[in-house]
Amino acid sequence: MVGSLVVGALWAMLPAYVPNNAAVVFGGGPPIDGGRTWGGERVLGDGKTWRGTLAGTLAGAAVALLLNLLAPTIGGLVGFALPTFPLRVGVTLAFGAMLGDIVASFLKRRTGRERGAAFPGVDQLDFVVGALGLTALGSPAWFAATFPPPALVVVVVATPLLHVATNAIAYLLGLKDEPW
Ligand code: CTP
Ligand code: MG
Repeated sequence: MVGSLVVGALWAMLPAYVPNNAAVVFGGGPPIDGGRTWGGERVLGDGKTWRGTLAGTLAGAAVALLLNLLAPTIGGLVGFALPTFPLRVGVTLAFGAMLGDIVASFLKRRTGRERGAAFPGVDQLDFVVGALGLTALGSPAWFAATFPPPALVVVVVATPLLHVATNAIAYLLGLKDEPW
């Protein structure tokens, strides 16, 4: 019961975990803010690009579709049904994650943080809030069934830990300039 709650919640978040990493790998090119500034600082900065955002969204949605194919088999192995993702949900989880990260960069620039500067707490949860928020708006019934309050607690506690770990690995592999 507890195991299925934790595994199901993290499974349902996988399409939101992938986009930021795909953006790191495939990002670059023209920044979304076009180099514009606001109050003397960049609106978003060079770290938020069209290509990274598109790649992240496509990668996250693709993961959702892949998980749909794997759910029956892996569900059989673990002994309980795993969540599946309507396409609309795959897109809102993935794009919401990117959007949360973009909003965080906006807030970083407004608070004088340079590109790549850490913003503890925000860095770890921006994409969670974006992904869950956009999905709750876009598919409220799916959201309520998949993320009951205990599942949300699991996600909010476990995600920062996973995020710190994956970013540290990306840093060690030379994919990311900062370990956060
Ligand atoms: N990236 C991108 N487009 C996005 C998000 C990320 O191209 N929407 C790429 C950029 O190359 C970016 C890298 O992924 O430098 C790492 O992402 P992130 O840590 O979110 O950006 P930072 O460069 O640290 O910038 P910021 O301070 O604004 O978070
Ligand atoms: Mg960063």
